[in-house]
Amino acid sequence: MNRTSRPLVACSSVEIHRARTVDDLISPVAVDDVFTAREQRFARAGRGFESWAGRLAAKRAVASVLERTVDGTRLVDIEIVPSHVHCPTKGACSRGHPPDVVLHGRTGIRHPSGSVVTISHAPELAIAVATTGMPIGVDVIELARARNWIGSEVASRRLFSERELAWCGESIERRVAALALKECSIKIVGRRPPKMSWRDATVTPSRPHGPADSVATSVAQAAGAQEVHHSLVHLDGRLVRPFGVGHATTRTEDFRVAGAWCATKGHVVGVAWVALAVSAARSTS
Ligand SMILES: CC(C)(COP(=O)(O)OP(=O)(O)OC[C@H]1O[C@@H](n2cnc3c(N)ncnc32)[C@H](O)[C@@H]1OP(=O)(O)O)[C@@H](O)C(=O)NCCC(=O)NCCS
Ligand SMILES: [Zn+2]
Repeated sequence: MNRTSRPLVACSSVEIHRARTVDDLISPVAVDDVFTAREQRFARAGRGFESWAGRLAAKRAVASVLERTVDGTRLVDIEIVPSHVHCPTKGACSRGHPPDVVLHGRTGIRHPSGSVVTISHAPELAIAVATTGMPIGVDVIELARARNWIGSEVASRRLFSERELAWCGESIERRVAALALKECSIKIVGRRPPKMSWRDATVTPSRPHGPADSVATSVAQAAGAQEVHHSLVHLDGRLVRPFGVGHATTRTEDFRVAGAWCATKGHVVGVAWVALAVSAARSTS
């Protein structure tokens, strides 16, 4: 299979409620055959069980992207570690860092330049999307947890513009979707700038985004959603300018990313990406 017809997007989800331990999650495979020692340290330091599930989803998504170029890829050979490339303290700070992919052993290849993986985890559901060649962010939010506060006056003022509130109306699901897409955008940028306002990212519904629409389909399939809603996220220059988008800086004042969201199994899953043509997509679960 040549490079041009290789899939560029893959999504994987892990339902956590069926598992009580890491062994349940990966059975019958042993922990050391899935997670490197470094990953085990990060997962133990992270948000408990969710972090293991998020890394597992990320490995499966990367394996799926690589599938046609690498035979017999073992999950332990696909290592997911925090990237400190853009961290002013080189990782010494306690804030979250974007995940990076390190390939070992039998994979035998470096991951294609520009390839990325993005991870999100809620107590019951973890999801990851791997791509080769475009900055991307995924975010999952459990509806029951958000329901109590996202409809409040304070949340309305802090999170959403008048236009977003008009679009959301009484729908809690839409508010959660708008927040998920804002969080996706932060993951694309890779950092939350000082003094950032959640209103620096504005979500609007939109038509599907041409070929890159397959990102949305891939995520909806992996998440088990029936319907996908397309969006645009407008990023204020204040959010984008200090850091660039992905690893490239933008010269424009503001920036738009394509997005989509779906509701599934008591969660809302958002995905946003810097729109480029995508030749194919695959999903695993
Ligand atoms: C991105 C963010 C909005 C999502 O938070 P959340 O909804 O609580 O968490 P989610 O479950 O959706 O996602 C968690 C995963 O996002 C990824 N992540 C964390 N920080 C990230 C960042 N800055 N960019 C991209 N991805 C990030 C990680 O893979 C993390 O999982 P892990 O810690 O188990 O590896 C929040 O983490 C944030 O604001 N991060 C920015 C922090 C920052 O400015 N860091 C700069 C350090 S120099
Ligand atoms: Zn840092």
